[in-house]
Amino acid sequence: MRSDPFRPAQRVAGQRQDVWSIINEAAAASPVQPIVNMGQGFFGYNPPKFVTDAAKEALDKVDCNQYSPTKGRPRLKRAIANAYSPFFGRTLNPDTEVTITTGANEGMLSAFMAFLEPGDEVIVFEPFFDQYISNIEMPGGRLVYVPIHPPASGSTKTQSAGKWRIDMDEVKARISDKTRMIVLNSPHNPIGKVFSEHELREIGELCVEHNILILSDEVYDRLYYTPFTRIATLSPKIADLTLTVGSGGKNFYATGWRVGWLIGPEHLIKYVSAAHTRICYSSVSPLQEATAIGFEKADEMGFWEESVKEMKGKMDRFNRVWSELGLPYSDPEGGYFVLVNMAKVKLPSDYKFPPHVAERPRDFKLAWFLIMEIGVAAIPPTEFFTPGNAHIVEDYMRFAVCKDDSVLETAKERLRGLKQYIVQ
Ligand SMILES: Cc1ncc(COP(=O)(O)O)c(C=O)c1O
Repeated sequence: MRSDPFRPAQRVAGQRQDVWSIINEAAAASPVQPIVNMGQGFFGYNPPKFVTDAAKEALDKVDCNQYSPTKGRPRLKRAIANAYSPFFGRTLNPDTEVTITTGANEGMLSAFMAFLEPGDEVIVFEPFFDQYISNIEMPGGRLVYVPIHPPASGSTKTQSAGKWRIDMDEVKARISDKTRMIVLNSPHNPIGKVFSEHELREIGELCVEHNILILSDEVYDRLYYTPFTRIATLSPKIADLTLTVGSGGKNFYATGWRVGWLIGPEHLIKYVSAAHTRICYSSVSPLQEATAIGFEKADEMGFWEESVKEMKGKMDRFNRVWSELGLPYSDPEGGYFVLVNMAKVKLPSDYKFPPHVAERPRDFKLAWFLIMEIGVAAIPPTEFFTPGNAHIVEDYMRFAVCKDDSVLETAKERLRGLKQYIVQ
């Protein structure tokens, strides 16, 4: 007889409280209310009106309330193929080279489910988007980590996020005959780095040499402030191995819609579609339709330029507070996260942290202190590293700037309260 019917499977039985619940619970308990939440990367404002109108209208169409084809609505696949063909420098076939998923996240799970056998190794760079880990572990993949290194003077000087670097010798050393896939993310969460063409070419050529599939997570592909290269465009051989991941949620400020996609060669996409069909059959119909209309109209509305201008404006205005305080940050080349180095913030030595925070690296204590004393929530990035490498970022904090300007101004006002704890 089974001794404990409630015992969860190993894959969901993680003991540690995750960062999101620690931060959200702390935010709810803070004496400073309402808290300014710059933690999670959801938008503090609505998608553009032409997109929300499309969603409302979709609900009145009979077929938009029923199952979509498992690979996605033809209108959305076509809209994505049309929008991305110019970036890829060739005409994408919407039927064979694009597949729609339930957010980028489920798209990546489908890719891992499609190609990993138990014991296959996947190279993931630290810091990582946390969902990669469970998505790789579920089909039995083994994670192999390679850190991205901050610039040596990151604690004293503000500099471009592009200064965070991968050591290619470290990557090469981690390749084995079991390496099946590598996960890239550009523009990067949380660093804000946009990988250069040179860096991507080195990685791509290594993958060609070793027959490694590339999963290129490009969900922030419309938010870059420096030239942006897509690895799939670097050579036909690299393209043959590459799945590019996109997100309607990130593109159109609608993270709750759960519309994502993968673009790649037919010999890869067909298996991703097969896995996706088994995981969730098909994705939300009316919001696929609205995303399609979003793509159809975005250019004529000047939405993409506006989106970059707005986010870059938010980023620059918010980051002025760090210059005022003398705290260095990694100036993002893309995306909507900024990493700030708080080595100069001296936490009071007698400050009482709860045990579940006290046992974590210094950035968790910084996050707790910011929430309780300053009233601003941010994310401790050691959560996105393995314990052995966590020290690399234990002085950093991640802030999401995809919030209303008034929220950012309140945050800045509160953050000025850090001055008394800063030792230059
Ligand atoms: C790097 C990265 N990849 C993927 C995702 C997930 O995208 P989606 O909401 O479309 O699943 C996120 C969301 O935060 C992200 O930061």
